[in-house]
This record gives sequence, structure tokens and C-alpha cells, in this order.
Amino acid sequence: MASDWRVLWSLLRGQSRAADHRARLEDFYAPQAEDYDRVRERMLHGRRELCAQLAALLPAGFRLAEFGAGTARNLAFLEDRLAEGRCWAVDLCPALLERARQRIAAQRWTTVEAVEADVTRWQAPEPLDAVLMSYSLTMIPDWFAAIDNALAQLKPGGLLAVVDFYVSRPHPEPGLVRHGWWERAFWPLWFGHAGVRPQPDLLPYLRYRAQTLALVEGRGRLPWTPWRAPYFRFLGRRA
Ligand SMILES: C[S@@+](CC[C@H](N)C(=O)[O-])C[C@H]1O[C@@H](n2cnc3c(N)ncnc32)[C@H](O)[C@@H]1O
Repeated sequence: MASDWRVLWSLLRGQSRAADHRARLEDFYAPQAEDYDRVRERMLHGRRELCAQLAALLPAGFRLAEFGAGTARNLAFLEDRLAEGRCWAVDLCPALLERARQRIAAQRWTTVEAVEADVTRWQAPEPLDAVLMSYSLTMIPDWFAAIDNALAQLKPGGLLAVVDFYVSRPHPEPGLVRHGWWERAFWPLWFGHAGVRPQPDLLPYLRYRAQTLALVEGRGRLPWTPWRAPYFRFLGRRA
């Protein structure tokens, strides 16, 4: 299919050398924005399940932000509850945000707003009940700052929901999955080309900063390859 080739070409070409993170995102995503949702359906696993867990815990009148929301596809998983609260779909990439705005208008989501901002610094207009981060942290160079900022915007007891690619530490905490040396070397190289950096410290940092409510470590098929990449789903609460 022609659109598959467009995405594949963008992935193989990888990220541009633009000095600015926003420009690198735009160079990477603009040529594939139209095909983004269709292809990521086969690549970004666990999003529906995480959103279902999150939806069950959102309080009435909730305030939620998705950090690195892309096309706002994940808010469709929360559609049954959207009218009850208020949501911000925050992203730094204009091409994907344009798709998000089209979706919000087409679905008449009057309680959802698309915002162009860097989530390491964005200030929510109101304290939040939940922050969702779906496959965004691995694309944010200063991902520590994004997590710290999410926690700073959450009310005490607020929910942090994260799904992303990762690799384990060489010696993970008891009970966590351990990936062998080959995988710990391979996945950062494979994804790094497209500006995606699976981190051994991501899951430990989330567990350190937030109280764990639910954690699933799994694997998901990558389109056009025989491989299944490691990912996790984390649902936590701000202490
Ligand atoms: C792999 S996409 C995931 C999009 C969406 N969350 C999903 O599940 O389909 C990663 C997203 O993170 C965004 N992003 C990367 N760095 C960012 C930053 N510093 N601030 C805001 N968004 C960022 C990218 O523009 C992109 O939309």
C-alpha cells in the first residue's frame, strides 16, 4: 500500500539533523501525519488497555492532560467520559496537532483543547487529576523533566498513566522483567534512528516518583518485522 511505503520511508530516513527538537519532530512527522494513526495502531501496543484502566479511576469533573498527544487518538479510547471533564492534548509537533484539531472538531469534543507546547515546561490552566503519556517519553530528550512536570501539575493523589517502549536495567528490581544484553543494546539502536530512545531508567524512575497502582510488562509486534518489542504499561498515583 502506498501509504505504508510513505511511513516506512520516514522511519528508514529517521530523524533530521535540525538543531531544534520541534523542527526535528515536524521534519519526521509531517510527511507521515496522514497515515500516522493507521500505522501506529499496529505498532503502539497497550494504549487501549491503559486508557480503559485510567477511565475507570477518573473522578467526576476530571481535568486530564495527555503529554505528547500526537493526533489525540488516545482520547477516543476515553470517549465515553470526555464530556464529563476537561482535557488538554499537548504536543510540540504542528503537523500532528493539526490532525488532533481535525479529530476534535469532527467528533465535536467541546471539552478537549489541542495545545502546542513543550511538555517539559507546559503549565496546565488548572490542577490536573490525570496525566497520560503514551509513547511520548521515549521521544522527549529531557524525559525526566517531562515526568517531573507531569507530577507538578497533578493534584495530590492524581493519576499518572504511561505506556512506552523500554529496556530493563542489567539488574532490575525483584519481580521485574530482565532483558538480555543483546536486547538492551539492540532496541535503543533500532529505535534511536527514528528519535525514539527506550530507556533502562524510565520504569524505575516512574516507580520511584509515583505509587504503583498497576504495572504490566509485555511485548508487541512491530509492523514489517518479525520482532516483538518490549513495552510496559504503568498506572501510578502522585503521593
Ligand atoms: C510516538 S508519538 C505518540 C503520540 C500519541 N501519544 C500516541 O500514542 O499516538 C510521540 C509524540 O510525542 C511528541 N513529543 C515529543 N517531544 C515532545 C515535547 N517535548 N513536548 C510535547 N510533545 C512532544 C511528538 O510530537 C509525538 O506526537
